[in-house]
Amino acid sequence: MARPSWVLICLLLVAVIGELCLGDKAVDKCIKGPLHKDKPSPEGPGYVECTPWKDNACCTANFTAELKRNNVEVLYNFSWNHCANLSQACERFIKNEECFWQCEPNLINWHTTGGALEGVPICAKYCDDWFDACKNDFTCAQDWLSGFNYSSSVYSCPTKSTCFKFSEVYSNGKGLCDTMWGKSFTYEKGDNCMSMWFTGKNPNEDVTRNPTSAATCYSKFIYPAMILSLINLLLNSY
Ligand SMILES: *[C@@H]1O[C@H](CO)[C@@H](O)[C@H](O)[C@H]1NC(C)=O
Ligand SMILES: *[C@@H]1O[C@H](CO)[C@@H](O)[C@H](O)[C@H]1NC(C)=O
Ligand SMILES: *[C@@H]1O[C@H](CO)[C@@H](O)[C@H](O)[C@H]1NC(C)=O
Ligand SMILES: *[C@@H]1O[C@H](CO)[C@@H](O)[C@H](O)[C@H]1NC(C)=O
Repeated sequence: MARPSWVLICLLLVAVIGELCLGDKAVDKCIKGPLHKDKPSPEGPGYVECTPWKDNACCTANFTAELKRNNVEVLYNFSWNHCANLSQACERFIKNEECFWQCEPNLINWHTTGGALEGVPICAKYCDDWFDACKNDFTCAQDWLSGFNYSSSVYSCPTKSTCFKFSEVYSNGKGLCDTMWGKSFTYEKGDNCMSMWFTGKNPNEDVTRNPTSAATCYSKFIYPAMILSLINLLLNSY
């Protein structure tokens, strides 16, 4: 009979269209930060701290060991405790952010240049939790990428700056994600969003740069395919 084979052809078509529209999702290169690897790969013994990415990381074990030992003080001459020591809960979120930036392979689609990112959609819930953990901690700069004095290769609070609580500087999770790291991140209320921490399989693999373009691509194929199948069904039914 013709119908079963037609079903197979339909399935094949759907698979091919899916492949065309979504592309190959396996990410095989890292953003070009100063400490990033060229390609993501598993890390072995000595890898600590940034545990979610251990099986497929853009960061080295060495980086994670240094992060654990001295935060980013030796790595970038930057102290998160520039106003007062961060609370443990807040520090964990800042560490997550460092791990995410250094280790997450799926950031490549938001990479601009030199390790910089633009518009990575961060899940609203994650931003809200981050704000909640840090709201009573202090900082002297709203934008941690451009707000510090970086003379003599050391980040410090600009003269005349004052330390404020995170709650005063950022107001809420949206303010925090949208402004703390320049334009790197955006607060995303929808489902197409990344998390800076997870357990198990990396959920950030499923986040696409431009979700509407995949839908538009599908719609280009779907109507002709539906009409063809209808015609064929009618022809085969009688
Ligand atoms: C790890 O980092 C240290 C100093 O930061 C460096 O001396 C060492 O060569 C690095 N090891 C590897 C394997 O990259
Ligand atoms: C940190 O600052 C010192 C000088 O205070 C400088 O020699 C060193 O290269 C800097 N390290 C980094 C990673 O910028
Ligand atoms: C801040 O943390 C450092 C290192 O953990 C510690 O030595 C220091 O006493 C702390 N400072 C305050 C004011 O708690
Ligand atoms: C930056 O720091 C240097 C000293 O390291 C100082 O001379 C300069 O005035 C500072 N500038 C600002 C804007 O804070």
